[in-house]
Amino acid sequence: MKKYRLKDGKIMIVREGNGKDADRVLQYIKRVACESDNLTFGEGEFNTTLEEEVRFIEECRKSKNSLFLIAEYRGEIISCLTFSGGNRSRIKHYGEFGITVLKKYWGLGVGKTLINCLIKWAKDSGIIRKINLKVKADNTKAIALYTKLGFVKEGAISRFFYHKGEFHDVYVMGLEID
Ligand SMILES: CC(C)(COP(=O)(O)OP(=O)(O)OC[C@H]1O[C@@H](n2cnc3c(N)ncnc32)[C@H](O)[C@@H]1OP(=O)(O)O)[C@@H](O)C(=O)NCCC(=O)NCCS
Repeated sequence: MKKYRLKDGKIMIVREGNGKDADRVLQYIKRVACESDNLTFGEGEFNTTLEEEVRFIEECRKSKNSLFLIAEYRGEIISCLTFSGGNRSRIKHYGEFGITVLKKYWGLGVGKTLINCLIKWAKDSGIIRKINLKVKADNTKAIALYTKLGFVKEGAISRFFYHKGEFHDVYVMGLEID
C-alpha cells in the first residue's frame, strides 16, 4: 500500500486488490460505466457476478504477471487498473491493461499515478517486457496521457466498438519494458 498526493492535495491510497474488494469493485464499475462512452461496456452492461469478480481479482493477486490495482480516497474506490499477462510461455511477458477513474476525480493525476505504478511493477516483475492497451481513437485525453508516459501508437483496429448505431476504431498503443 502506498500513499500519493493528488493535484488538489487529497491523499489517495494505491494498493493491490483482493477478493474481499469484489463487491465494492462491482459497485464502482457500475458507476464508471455511466460516466463515459470510452469503455467496452455502458450502463447495465457489466454483468460479471460477484463470484466471478472474486475469482478474477484473486487470480490477479496470485499471478506473477497480472495486476489488479485499486485507488481509494477516504475508503471510497476512485480508480481501478487491471493488467492481464499472457498465460502461455511465449506470451507471458506480454499483457494489456485497462484503467478507469471516477469522474469527480478526473484531472487530478489519479490515472497517471496508477499507470506509473503499473510501469514500476512491470519493471520489477522480471517477467513483463511489453505493456499494451486499446484506446478509442477519439479519446484524446487518454491518448495524451498514455503518450506522456511513453506509450507509442502501434496500429489501429477498425470497427472495434459498435455503439449507438456507429462503429468506432481503436488505437493499439504499447510500451516496451527494458
Ligand atoms: C482517461 C482517464 C483514465 C485519465 O485519468 P485522469 O486521472 O483523469 O488523468 P490524469 O489526471 O492523471 O491526467 C493525466 C494527464 O492528461 C493530461 N490531460 C488531462 N486532460 C486532458 C485533455 N482534455 N486533453 C489533453 N490532455 C489532458 C493532463 O495534462 C495530465 O498530465 P499532467 O498531470 O502531466 O498535466 C480518466 O479520465 C477516465 O477514467 N476516463 C474514462 C474512462 C477511460 O477513458 N478510460 C481509458 C480507456 S482506454
